[in-house]
Amino acid sequence: MDEQLEEELAIPQKIKTTDNVNGSATSGSNATYWLESTQPLSSQILNKGLKTDVVIVGGGIAGLSVAYNLVKAGKKVVVVEDGNIGSGETGRTTAHLVNALDDRYYDLERMFGKDKTKLVASSHTEAINFIENIIAIENIECEFKRVDGYLFLHPSDEPSTLDKELKACNEAGLQVEISDEVPGLNDSTGPCLKFPDQAKFHPMKYLEGLYKAIIEKGGLVFTNTHAEIIDHTGIVTRDGHEVKADHVVIATNSPVNNKYIPHLQQYAYRTYVIGARVKKDTLPDVLWWDTGDVNANAEIPPYHYVRLQPLDDQYDLLISGGEDHGTGLADAEHITEGERYALLEKWTRAHFEIEDIIYQWSGQVLEPMDSLAYIGRNPTDHKNVYIVTGDSGNGMTHATIAGILIKDLIVGNENEWADLYDPSRFKLFTAGKTFFKEVAQGLISYIKTKPHPEDNEMESIPADEGKIVKMDGKPYGVYRDEANQLHIVEAECTHMKCIIKWNGDEKSWDCPCHGSRFTYEGQVINGPANRNLLYHKEDKVLVNR
Ligand SMILES: Cc1cc2nc3c(=O)[nH]c(=O)nc-3n(C[C@H](O)[C@H](O)[C@H](O)COP(=O)(O)OP(=O)(O)OC[C@H]3O[C@@H](n4cnc5c(N)ncnc54)[C@H](O)[C@@H]3O)c2cc1C
Ligand code: FES
Repeated sequence: MDEQLEEELAIPQKIKTTDNVNGSATSGSNATYWLESTQPLSSQILNKGLKTDVVIVGGGIAGLSVAYNLVKAGKKVVVVEDGNIGSGETGRTTAHLVNALDDRYYDLERMFGKDKTKLVASSHTEAINFIENIIAIENIECEFKRVDGYLFLHPSDEPSTLDKELKACNEAGLQVEISDEVPGLNDSTGPCLKFPDQAKFHPMKYLEGLYKAIIEKGGLVFTNTHAEIIDHTGIVTRDGHEVKADHVVIATNSPVNNKYIPHLQQYAYRTYVIGARVKKDTLPDVLWWDTGDVNANAEIPPYHYVRLQPLDDQYDLLISGGEDHGTGLADAEHITEGERYALLEKWTRAHFEIEDIIYQWSGQVLEPMDSLAYIGRNPTDHKNVYIVTGDSGNGMTHATIAGILIKDLIVGNENEWADLYDPSRFKLFTAGKTFFKEVAQGLISYIKTKPHPEDNEMESIPADEGKIVKMDGKPYGVYRDEANQLHIVEAECTHMKCIIKWNGDEKSWDCPCHGSRFTYEGQVINGPANRNLLYHKEDKVLVNR
């Protein structure tokens, strides 16, 4: 590594972490602003068998959006969530509500054609309107605000990107304009695209509002309740309680009920966020995105995304995100997970006048091969099982679309979005390049960075670090905590047996194959895996928890 890069990667002071050993509060050890500024949201644990119209697995924005629409349509609904409400990626988001998608409209037009691309744009516009409407109807105080958004060029990109995108956006029916200056950037050099009428909110306050509305309308929500067995008849919890249902909706971000299909067509990425204080009223209240580094060795150029959030009387929080990489594959770029914050800070300081950084966290996004979420009937399954996945970095609106679409599928309404988001679509002809590149690159990086454990390496693991070691010929993940205690897990991912990798930033074991993640005690915190790793503390035997 060259000296300059090494200097840039000096890790900034770690700010706030959370005591989250079993993953029920959130899916990482770094605290997020959203979770810190609200009370944990949990209800009762399911302790008996139930029969219902619809069982929904997952209490993030997708699960609760589907539940809300169904209870309003008069259905009996049961939601089971294995942590607190919002303990998955919804509590770790940045909550831009946009029809200015993370992927380019000219690419969507190439893959889906002009008419369907129009439908993509209008579905996201409708999702933002829908959220605004629910907030008004249910009286949810979640700091929802309409703001404009600005897409500007990454230095590696060409102005023709903006010209192409402007044309495609206008063809898709969006009133996008080209503008000379990016408001608020201290090195503002346009040109950029202005997307009017986007929005933002506090995601956990919104979720709390949805949760209360669901309960009020007769829905049942159970937290700290893990769905262990899932099929078309319902679910069985880890404690053995059954929920029988006419319809089963899997809203676990990465579906935990389908071993293969969506996971071969979408790719898990880690993405990083810092929260920096900025003096109030020094920046315009807008959203900012760059077009991403086109020179990066990635099919999806890593881009930056920025917004403001009111903090206190004197300061706002500038929430800046980016520096993505394939889950479990940070090593392939020789920049660890924890080092990504320094790069993000450098980029943010180059564009904005920020003061101190008071938050840093990371989360997971799922990038589908053709950029659109998979929402609808679970491929190769019974017709009454539904999934929502493949957020593509626009999971707030995709989840809201899922709320409307899955409700329509269940109650038997026509919905013009059904084909567009159908999880059975497979765009090999138009999105095949992404598919092959992601699969090939993932495989090469996995092989290149796969640990080659040696026997008895435990002594060499420093405090607060994890490593794969070999015992009796088998690989184990070993984490030595700050009190010098060892935590040992089996190193084969419970999805399809790839070898997990240590993520020192979020203190988790991450699987490079399809993005499953586990706490250092082996509890699963991201699918597609749905079973914990066997866990062993010091001299105790391995236990399945
Ligand atoms: C850093 C970051 C920034 C982002 N920024 C934006 C943005 O600006 N705009 C935008 O639109 N999107 C954004 N996204 C994406 C968006 O946040 C996510 O797509 C969205 O929150 C996912 O919601 P979800 O309900 O599908 O998943 P989650 O919120 O992860 O919910 C799934 C839930 O399922 C539960 N679960 C899993 N397995 C089981 C089981 N077996 N039994 C019971 N429960 C289970 C989990 O505990 C979890 O709570 C961002 C994501 C990240 C990480
Ligand atoms: S996520 Fe598929 S093998 Fe681990």
